[in-house]
Amino acid sequence: MKILLFFISLISSSLLFSAGEYRCGSIECDAFQADVSDKASLQRGLSTYMNYCYGCHSLKYSRYKRVAEDLLIPLDIYENNLIFDGSKIGELMEISLTKKDAIDWLGAYPPDLTLEARLRRPDWIYTYLRNYYPDSTRPYGVNNKVYQNVNMPHVLEDLETNLSKSEYDQVIYDLTNFMTYVADPSAEQRKRIGTYVLLFLVIFTAFAYLTYREFKKDLK
Ligand code: HEC
Repeated sequence: MKILLFFISLISSSLLFSAGEYRCGSIECDAFQADVSDKASLQRGLSTYMNYCYGCHSLKYSRYKRVAEDLLIPLDIYENNLIFDGSKIGELMEISLTKKDAIDWLGAYPPDLTLEARLRRPDWIYTYLRNYYPDSTRPYGVNNKVYQNVNMPHVLEDLETNLSKSEYDQVIYDLTNFMTYVADPSAEQRKRIGTYVLLFLVIFTAFAYLTYREFKKDLK
């Protein structure tokens, strides 16, 4: 009985927590549902990342080659179009910006973002990049509702002004989806293996049961 009560309280508390909305700074997080099996979305996100973020934010726990292979991008196409600093395809995704330069120019060091989607959660990133607003008191003339007084300029401002709202949301969706993938690149493979493991267990259980029945016959 005690065990039953324990499980009921466990389930109800997890339901309670999942029902509560997450906060993203001063506002509520917008819903974000990653789909790391959508390679086209991940490829678009990677392209946005390399063009708009990689100048400041490394992805140093990941390698170009691994990303290219996971996202089904031929290595030569990847090398010619997405590596701008002459790095080799097998190298880690590091950048040349030094801490000192960054602090001189930006007032803060742009952190490595390989694990950002695990640190902050994807919906935080998705909401953050869609909530810059004009603020003349700040050095770049912008502020952010999710990250007050952030030292990062609104690097996607041109995109946001030139695209429709739904197009911009799609760009940020793909970018966040890519960051979700890069924070846990084996997630998809793990799910696939999980399915095989369950299948194996079902088949194994069936055979174990048949063996058990055979043995039982002899015992009678
Ligand atoms: C000009 C350099 C620069 C570029 C380009 C840039 N950022 Fe940043 N970013 C920063 C700096 C500096 C910070 C740290 C801000 C602070 O601490 O106030 C930061 C912080 C962040 C954070 C919050 C990190 C944390 O958890 O504290 C995220 C997320 C982020 N950037 C994402 C991006 C993405 C995505 C892009 C590309 C669309 C991008 N950044 C492009 C400079 C940059």
